[in-house]
Amino acid sequence: MAKHVVLIGFMGTGKTSCGRMLATRLGCGLVDLDKYIEAKEGMSVPEIFAAKGEDYFRAKEREAVREVLQRKFTVIATGGGTVKDEENFRLLKERGVLVCLTADVDTILARTERRGERPMLDRHEDRRKTVEELLESRREIYARADFSIDTSRRSPMEVSEEIVDFLRVGGYIRA
Ligand code: S3P
Repeated sequence: MAKHVVLIGFMGTGKTSCGRMLATRLGCGLVDLDKYIEAKEGMSVPEIFAAKGEDYFRAKEREAVREVLQRKFTVIATGGGTVKDEENFRLLKERGVLVCLTADVDTILARTERRGERPMLDRHEDRRKTVEELLESRREIYARADFSIDTSRRSPMEVSEEIVDFLRVGGYIRA
C-alpha cells in the first residue's frame, strides 16, 4: 500500500493550508488531525484543553493517529505536538513519508497571533519565549522527518509543489 503523506511541524508552519492544497494536487483525501478530533469530541481543541486537560487531548490524538492510518492513501496534517509522542512518531513514520514544515519565529508569531486558538501558546504572557522554548524542545523530533521545507516566505501552492517534486523524485508517487 502507498505510504501516506504526513505533514508534521510546529504550530503556524502551514500544515493545514498546505495539506489542503497537497491533497487536491494529489487527488487524495486529507485528514487534519485536530479537526478529526474536534468532530469526534464535538468540541474545539481549546475547549477540550480547557474542559478535560492536555493529557485527555493527547490520548484522543493517539487514538486519532491509529484510526487515520487505517485509511487508504491520505494526506495527514498532524498537530504540532503529535510527533512528540514516540509511538505516534514511530507509527506515522512506518506507514507514511514524513514531511516537516518549518518557519522562522517571527513568521510563527505572526501566523498564530490570535488568542484562544492555541492553548499551548496562551499559557504564558511572553509568547516569543513560549514559541522559542517549545520549538527547542521539539527540534530534535522534527529533524527526523524525511524531508523539510521552510514555509516562511512561500505560499501554500509553492510549498505543495515542492513537496510533490520531493515525492516524485523519491518514488513515493508517480504523478
Ligand atoms: C498543538 C498544536 C495544535 C493542536 C493543539 C496542540 C501543539 O495544532 O494540536 O493546540 O502541541 O503544538 P496546530 O499545529 O495545527 O496548531
